[in-house]
Amino acid sequence: MDDGSLDLTLVTHPVVRTRLTALRDARTSSVQFRDLLTQLTGMLMYEAMASQAVTAVTVQTPVGPCDGVQMTQPPLLVPVLRAGLGMLDAAMTAVPEAQVGFVGVARDEETARPQEYLVSLPADLRDRPVVVLDPMLATAGSMIHTLDVLARHGATDVTAVCVIGAPEGVAALRESGHRLRLVLGGLDEGLNEDAYIVPGLGDAGDRLYGPR
Ligand code: URA
Repeated sequence: MDDGSLDLTLVTHPVVRTRLTALRDARTSSVQFRDLLTQLTGMLMYEAMASQAVTAVTVQTPVGPCDGVQMTQPPLLVPVLRAGLGMLDAAMTAVPEAQVGFVGVARDEETARPQEYLVSLPADLRDRPVVVLDPMLATAGSMIHTLDVLARHGATDVTAVCVIGAPEGVAALRESGHRLRLVLGGLDEGLNEDAYIVPGLGDAGDRLYGPR
């Protein structure tokens, strides 16, 4: 962990940066947006899974035995509804062994505070790697709420994958005291008065699924 309990990885690969640029573009249609988010999630997931524990196995190739590995403990993927759903298919493609749980948190537009409306998780998450999926880390209110829920279920090995983060959200995560690996595709300037990330990409849920 690089500072306190937060281990931050900012992915600066040129392919990530080009896809992120297109994702941000206000002219990008919902169809293109979903496709770009899928591509980005796949790339960020590889980074997120880089330190996963593996166990040795042997397979038979057509030519002979070959030593390989399998995941010791496949992760639980937890998309934070609704925008995190836009990352789920790509995360499952990256880690087909994974199982899936759900946390639904809506942002109160008056207060920008998280409102929980769904928790669907295995009761016991001890010794289970968990990967939280949410494209936008703004105030980190939804993320900290999700981390609180996961902690109540016993989770101690948690990675969050976000496409864009704000420095305020990263600072709030550090202050929350949760032990967390955080993988970001971009770290922006900050938040505006409506708690949107600047320059960001607008409302990720609206861009994926249309305005509410
Ligand atoms: N959620 C979003 O979808 N966009 C932001 O900029 C902040 C929170």
